[in-house]
Amino acid sequence: MKVSPSLLSADFCHLGEELDFINDSEADMLHIDIMDGVFVPNISFGFPVLKYVKERCKKPLDVHLMIVEPQKFVNEVRETGAEVMTVHYEACVHLNRVVQQIHNAGMKAGVSINPATPVCLLKDILAEVDLVLLMSVNPGFGGQKFIPGTIQKVKELRELIATTGSNALIEVDGGVNDQTGAQLAQAGADIAVAGNYVFKSTNRSQAIHSLKVL
Ligand code: DX5
Ligand code: ZN
Repeated sequence: MKVSPSLLSADFCHLGEELDFINDSEADMLHIDIMDGVFVPNISFGFPVLKYVKERCKKPLDVHLMIVEPQKFVNEVRETGAEVMTVHYEACVHLNRVVQQIHNAGMKAGVSINPATPVCLLKDILAEVDLVLLMSVNPGFGGQKFIPGTIQKVKELRELIATTGSNALIEVDGGVNDQTGAQLAQAGADIAVAGNYVFKSTNRSQAIHSLKVL
């Protein structure tokens, strides 16, 4: 699988060194979690911090917006140099328009669904998006336990992608480690987001490698 370590679990006192570690690692992308304290019950970091991440990080940025009205920040996300901008299905009244705005800004468009949102609701947007991010925890915090029903959702999404002629990649976020990662890979996931499993590990390079080989 491709691996997108989540910066949320990094040591922010040593942000530069953490980014150097990512640059030298086997990671395919860097996952960036933006929270607003409204869509999710937590606040992470914002665009002033990402300005420095952009300067130091050599890997593509995979930006996950857990905010209401994400369409208001398309330009700000583009300024971070993001390769992918992912918005929540639950946060967008006019999701098709938001996806168009992301594409018009020159980024790949991702759509994320919470654990209680069924995969079938994505049917009419799948052909338009580059990535679907399945939340395998309730968004807002790192270090939570993987919700097992996500495996079945990956399988359903894999089938729906095939029947709708979509090219979307399947990314999974929350509680991913080598064990849950193995089940996800087998079910058809393309990208694993991993926060605590990578950054809190005593051997971070090995943690990334253990997901890469799945
Ligand atoms: C949670 C975030 C995740 C989080 C994952 O709301 O979207 O990206 O950083 O952290 P772990 O891998 O520790 O569950
Ligand atoms: Zn995330």
